Amino acid sequence: MSAHISIHTLRQMKSKGERFACLTAYDATHAEVISRSGVECILVGDSLGMVVQGHDSTLPVSLADMAYHTACVARGNQGSLLIADMPFLSYADTADAIKGAKALMQAGAHMVKLEGGAWLAPLIHTLRQHGVPACLHLGLTPQSVNVFGGYRVQGRGDAAGQRLVQDVQELEASGAELIVLECVPQQLAATVTQATSVPVIGIGAGPATDGQVLVLYDMLGLNVGKTPRFIKNFLSEGRSIAQACQAFAEDVRSGRFPASEHCFD
Ligand code: KIV
Repeated sequence: MSAHISIHTLRQMKSKGERFACLTAYDATHAEVISRSGVECILVGDSLGMVVQGHDSTLPVSLADMAYHTACVARGNQGSLLIADMPFLSYADTADAIKGAKALMQAGAHMVKLEGGAWLAPLIHTLRQHGVPACLHLGLTPQSVNVFGGYRVQGRGDAAGQRLVQDVQELEASGAELIVLECVPQQLAATVTQATSVPVIGIGAGPATDGQVLVLYDMLGLNVGKTPRFIKNFLSEGRSIAQACQAFAEDVRSGRFPASEHCFD
């Protein structure tokens, strides 16, 4: 990657209608490969609880785990925007959230990601005042899997759709810098993306969002058991891992990914 990517770069890309790519990473080697492949953002996701640690959800991941993996990724990163997840119940009160954000930013993150809607607006404002930009994850928020009763598509129906649009607009007003939308109907994701000037990254949210993210292990075909609909294996056809990351970035930019078979209605 030639230049360092910032939130300013992503805002400019959104305003020009240019799509951008994001992949998760948990270690320095993959971070280096991903950033050299032209993927604009790297997410140190708490998905590491599942794909690295072998848990069946993201709930057991600790702040120390996140800080450790963020520091590993930061050492390999060659200029991508580095986002790190705040783990389960680490931001239920403001003092804990500031402590957690400090640990992740000092480990090398450029931005932290929290799961939730408009109720987080005051916290987002406070973090921003203290120099911490925030990405908000809405739709299917994996830390709430026990509230949802499983990993299910969210936002179906008019009322839920309108609530999502309002959440994003309130989060924008509070200073949110990025939005991740997971597993929502593609038309709703298109509406949300148009309703905000904040760049929106989708996963299982259709082709109309400003960016796309996948869990690295999923796009390398390493997921075991049932493959969720929104995943595509980019390592097939004899590619190296670096070529798979490049193919993902190119397919996101050109609009080839996600295709209709990866989307929900
Ligand atoms: O933890 C993670 O990897 C994520 C992505 C699925 C967006 O939050």
